[in-house]
Amino acid sequence: MKNILLIQNKINSFNNSINVSGDKSLSIRWAIMSAQALGKSKAFNLLNSEDVNNTLIAIKKLGIKVVKKKDYCEIFGRGLNGFSFSNNTTINAQNSGTFARLILGVLAKTKKKIILKGDRSLSNRDFSRVIQPLNKFGVKIISKKNKLPLKVCGTEYLRPINYEEYKGSAQVKSCIMLAALNTPGITKIKCKPSRNHTELLFKHLKLNINIQKKNSYDIIKIKGGKQYKGFNYIIPGDISSASFFIVLTLLSKNSKLVIKNINVNETRTGIIDILKKMNGKIFLKNKRYYKGEKVADIHVISSNKLKSINCPKEINSRLIDELPLIFLVCAKAKGISRFKNLDELRHKESDRLKLSSKFLNMLGIKNEININSFKIKGNPNLLLSKNFTVKDFFKDHRIFMLSCIAALTLGGTWKIHDKNSVNTSFPNFLKTLKELGGKFK
Ligand code: S3P
Repeated sequence: MKNILLIQNKINSFNNSINVSGDKSLSIRWAIMSAQALGKSKAFNLLNSEDVNNTLIAIKKLGIKVVKKKDYCEIFGRGLNGFSFSNNTTINAQNSGTFARLILGVLAKTKKKIILKGDRSLSNRDFSRVIQPLNKFGVKIISKKNKLPLKVCGTEYLRPINYEEYKGSAQVKSCIMLAALNTPGITKIKCKPSRNHTELLFKHLKLNINIQKKNSYDIIKIKGGKQYKGFNYIIPGDISSASFFIVLTLLSKNSKLVIKNINVNETRTGIIDILKKMNGKIFLKNKRYYKGEKVADIHVISSNKLKSINCPKEINSRLIDELPLIFLVCAKAKGISRFKNLDELRHKESDRLKLSSKFLNMLGIKNEININSFKIKGNPNLLLSKNFTVKDFFKDHRIFMLSCIAALTLGGTWKIHDKNSVNTSFPNFLKTLKELGGKFK
């Protein structure tokens, strides 16, 4: 069956060690920062997925030389605002919200007009969150209802801004930081904490950045205009991809897994904290630092005494992409789990809150969805035997992978549509499942 995955068997016990592909957030940031560096940058273990490859294609369209080899990628940056393209060039972010939001900040100073478009899912997503701060910088953006396609009219006369970011969105924060890099004077962002890869890269490149914690906010100050040179990066594994295998192991019987060389930056490891609180046996070993990022091997052991969680809302931005997987664990955990302030979950590649509820209903798990909260009544004895079909999920890669993990751990016969969606973030997903003994057609 074309583009449909058939799973008919649960996975047997395994005791293995795996690698997962390079971190998506870091791969996109490395490419964007390299395009504005002076000279050659080189990355190893860059994620070879559609989101990253579309980023590279777009950067090439901006007049930057990109050389992609099997083991590494080189970008020959032409400095801040050193792009060269003709008026009304179109770049296509396809499915990548991260690339689309970040590149808008980079393009703030370009005199030529540029059009940014995306696929069906991205064209449904809200861009007012980045249009508003960019307007304050002096950038004009023409759109219909703040959705893609957008026409960006940058300006040479960018003004530094003071901005408050309340959503806890790293994409919004990074967009503003990248515009600030091109803006003379000091831009100040008061933001709810979110993944801090852009901050760590700015620090690594010795850019003028100052970060202070005030109450529960980060105050970031950036003095723009400083040029930096090309830089090399070895991208560590992606915790968001590793999470599928963490949950696979927790929910499988008598299994053990080591996932090597994963970025365990604390702004990303909310899933580990929550699953540990739920009695998940997860341990970080061989911890080290790389260019300010924390890296470790993740050891996981099957856990059959899982208990429910009352998830503190402050942790949401540290596990935002992993929430559907955590909901699956809650389905197998004893007691009622509760989640609050989930608004952002509705604004991803799909409405992941609505789809998660639909998914749990299909499994026969009682759940209650509200505007932004979610309640799940777990069933530790959950075992499936029926036929299940998963389709109409906006080709959301994370919903596809979630369904595979459910099928391999809970049983039943599953037809999961849009198999190609894994290419967005984790093209080796099925190959890695096979290495562990997962069977599918
Ligand atoms: C990302 C930030 C998050 C996350 C996305 C990647 C990033 O989005 O969901 O997958 O690399 O900055 P928001 O910043 O919109 O929460």
